Formats: sequence, structure tokens, C-alpha cells
Amino acid sequence: MNFKQELAAILHELLDQEISLTDLELMIEKPKNQELGDLAFPCFTLAKLKRKSPNLIAEELSKKIHSPIFEKVEVVGAYLNLFLNKKMASEKVVNDIIAQKGNYGALTFGNGGAVTIDMSSPNIAKPFSMGHLRSTVIGNSLALIVEKCGYKPIKINHLGDWGTQFGKLITAYQLWGNAEKVKQNPIKELLTLYIKFHEEAETNPSLEDQGRSWFKKLEDGDDQALALWKWFRDESLKEFSRIYQLMNVEFDSYAGEAFYNDKMERVVKLLEEQHLLVESDQAQVVELIEEQLPPCLIKKSDGATLYATRDLAAALYRREEYQFVQSLYVVGHEQSLHFKQLIAVLAKMGYDWSKQMHHIPFGMMLKDGKKMSTRKGKVVLLEEVLNESIAMARHSIEEKNPNLSNKDDVAKQVGVGAVIFHDLKNNRMNDIEFSLEEMLRFEGETGPYVQYTYARACSILRKATGNIELDAITSNNLWEKEWKVTSLLMEFSPAIKRACINFDPSQVAKYIIDLAQAFNKYYAEVKILEDNPEQQARLALVYSVTEVLKEGLRLLGLEAPAEM
Ligand code: ARG
Repeated sequence: MNFKQELAAILHELLDQEISLTDLELMIEKPKNQELGDLAFPCFTLAKLKRKSPNLIAEELSKKIHSPIFEKVEVVGAYLNLFLNKKMASEKVVNDIIAQKGNYGALTFGNGGAVTIDMSSPNIAKPFSMGHLRSTVIGNSLALIVEKCGYKPIKINHLGDWGTQFGKLITAYQLWGNAEKVKQNPIKELLTLYIKFHEEAETNPSLEDQGRSWFKKLEDGDDQALALWKWFRDESLKEFSRIYQLMNVEFDSYAGEAFYNDKMERVVKLLEEQHLLVESDQAQVVELIEEQLPPCLIKKSDGATLYATRDLAAALYRREEYQFVQSLYVVGHEQSLHFKQLIAVLAKMGYDWSKQMHHIPFGMMLKDGKKMSTRKGKVVLLEEVLNESIAMARHSIEEKNPNLSNKDDVAKQVGVGAVIFHDLKNNRMNDIEFSLEEMLRFEGETGPYVQYTYARACSILRKATGNIELDAITSNNLWEKEWKVTSLLMEFSPAIKRACINFDPSQVAKYIIDLAQAFNKYYAEVKILEDNPEQQARLALVYSVTEVLKEGLRLLGLEAPAEM
């Protein structure tokens, strides 16, 4: 039980159970300013219920609270402000962390429910864009956060590997392609072919027909078409995998759009049976008039299916295969309309679970205030950026700690971590300015700053080895100077919960920045390694900080080097 819950239980008794425990817990606040107390209880709701002045109620309640967990109870207007007993609270949190280690902060409200996370999902034969990078980073962190809350995450890479463009690509490859070149630099080469197709098609419209007929062959399972398509897909995936490896991201499924090729007919049938499919300009659409959305296109006039058709089939498949309790789509906000339509069509089909689907949009990546683009075949550009970040981190490490033994590993952890942290530290809807210098700074709100704080805390523990006993701390006059840090340690779980409920990893990022800052301030004030009766307790506190920083970094997808 945390202290908020304990206070709720005390109030529950005092109020003769008139208000439920959960409601009471929701009413308890955390004062913005710690000088006003650690917990606050506003009495307005009670005042209405009891037809009494809220100030009077606060006054009365304050006299009745005699729990040892509070060292002081103050009344300020209609508020009851409560100050935790620092010794008791601090010892509890430190002991909890020592006992639970990396598991500290875990929650169980997910009850093992499956959460599918549609993330990354780049397009075959096209560059891996900054948007795909953001989707990868945000999706990966959300997977770790929901898991920490007791859900079972399923990370799905919904590859863009189907559609009329593959007919065009096959046509272009047959006319102008070169196998060697494709092998050497698949995405760049395939994109060049695709661009050439469009240039040539302006003067030679018959190319479009050839493209369509190749796609038709592909859809009908023609061997030659399939072999080429598969080859393009494999080569592209090899390139994408390099990025995933750099970032330590893995997927549970690579079922992309093509996977639903044989599952769309059923969707079309279901729509027909429910009389939801209507003809419009020779195409088949679902009207979404009451929903005030444009019609959702299901089949083109030539019978070809679309992106939305595949997403409908995918949603049904995921529901049946995984029985998800939530289904997330981490995709840029440009696709908001698409996901609104998708969810609306499923709701029209009578699927109640469509309410459990959420589009998780995010803002753009900017360079000097302009949208950053990875066109011109530079998947590569992104890989270059990550490698540059690693090189820059390597350089800093060389300067700061030339004797470090595993510099290359640490440089990778710091360089890649810097890019990820920079992405996640702000609310995902914000646009982000991409600046390597900014991300890699060792001061300020950066990944390297948190990692460095962690390494520094680890080095204190290393110096103290042999003389540290982590169990059962019972120290006396302690925990005043430590209070900022220990009270923050208690906030880990609430921060994780906020991140999970709002699909917002920045809650965790902000939290670990706060903790790192508080710890650094403490470290500057107190000589931790000084021989002193409180040393054991202080070391236990340092240990607790390392555990929470490491776990916080992990939840964002960052590693925590013990030395850097
Ligand atoms: N491949 C798409 C793109 O790059 C993103 C796919 C997102 N996921 C989905 N189920 N529609 O724009």
C-alpha cells in the first residue's frame, strides 16, 4: 500500500465509509510545493455532502488523524495538508526498492490483457522516414510501459509491402533494373526505379497499364511476380533490420499489408451482408455520414483493394488472434482521418471492441524548423544520423574517461540513447527539433545526463564495496536532506501509471530527469562516502536511486552503462 492509499483508508474510517476508497484516493492531491505538505485533501466535496463549511470539516478531520505515518497535519482553508513522517516513509521506500530491485514500481492493473502495438511499419522499397523512427521509439517504449503495468504487449510491424506500387516497381525493374545494383543498395536503387517509372509514364502512359497488370499478376499469385516482390521485401527488410538492431528493438510480428491479401474478401463480404457497402463513382465505399467523416474507400473501380481494406482485415485478425484488450496504432498525425474512418467502420459493423482501438499520433521531426525528410533513398540517412550520434558520444567519452574499457559499447548506448530520449522527453504531439549537439549534451534534460548520473551513482557504490549492507536500514536522525530524493522515489509508480493511461512516455522521461537532478543536488551537498553512522543508509539510498534510474531508462528503451 502506498501512502496515498493509506490516507484514503484512514479517511474512509473517519468518514464512516460514506465515500468509497477509490473516490477518496482520487480526491487526494499532491501539493505543487512540497513545503505545503506531501499530501493534501480538499474538503469541498464533503462540504456539499454534509452541508457544512469545508473549512470546518478540514478543522475537524485534522484533529482526528493520529496515524504515525504523518508527522504533522495542517489546515489551510478548506485543505487538509499532511506531512509524511520522513523517517518512516524513507525507510519504507528504500527497503522496498532493495527487496524488489528492477521490479520496483511495477503495477498489476493490466491483468495480463493483450495490447497490440502497431509500430514502425515502414514501406518496402522506400526510405525509413523520421516518422517511422518516431513510431519505433514511441511504440517500443509504450510496449515496455504497458508491460510494467501488467499487460502483455504484442509489437507488430505492419510493413507497407502491398499495393499497386509493387506492380509499377516490377515493371520498372523488368525494363531498367540491375540485380547487382539492387543487392548493393536495395532501397536507394528500388526508389530510383520507382521514380524513373513515374517520369517515363508521363510521356508513355502504357506503362501505367503494365504496372496494373503486374499488380494483378501479383495478386493472383503469379510465380515470377511473387518472386520479385519477395526479393524486394527481403532486401528492404535487411536494411531496416540494421536500424532495429542499432536501436535494440524487436517485433513479435512482421505481418504487413500483404499478409492480409487473402483476408480481405471476408471483410468485403461482411460489409455487403450488412448493406454497408455502396457504390460511388464505380468504387465501393462505406458512407460515414452520421460520423461526419468522408466515405471510407474499400474497393477501387478496378476491384483493387486499398490501405483501409487491409487495415480492416488486420483489425479483425488481431482481435481474433490476440483477443486484445487494447489495440494501439503508433502512426503520425497525418493519418488521423484514416484511423477515425477505420474505427468508425468497425463500430458500424457492430464490433464493440472498436472502442478499444486507439490511434496514438505524434508530431513531426524538424531540422532548422522545417520538416525533415529522408527521401532520395537515404534510409541510410537515418542510419548515418545514428552512427554520427554514436561517433559524437565516442568522442565525449574519450575526453571524459579515456581509460574506460568498453568505449564502443558505451558510445552506442549513449549515442543511440540520446536520440531516443530526445524524442521521448516531450509530449509526443509536439514537433521535435533534431539537433545532435542538443541531444548529446551531458547537462540539461538529455539521455546522456541521466545515464551519466546513473554511472556516477554506480561509481559511489563501487568505491564503497565491501562495506555496504543493503538490508534493514534503521538510522536515526536522517532523511531530512534526503527527503527530496526519497519522496521522488515514491513517485515512480504514479509516473508509470500516468504514462500508461495517457500513452505518454514523456511522463517517465520527465520523472527520471527530476530524480537525476535531485540526486545530483544531494550528491553535491552531502559527503556520502564520509565515515559516519549514517553511511549505510545513505549508500542504500544511492543504491535505490541507481535501481530506479536504470529501470526508468529501460522503460524508455535506453540502456544504462555502469561506467562512462
Ligand atoms: N506503412 C504506413 C506508412 O508508412 C504506416 C502503417 C501504419 N499502420 C497501419 N496499420 N496502417 O505510412
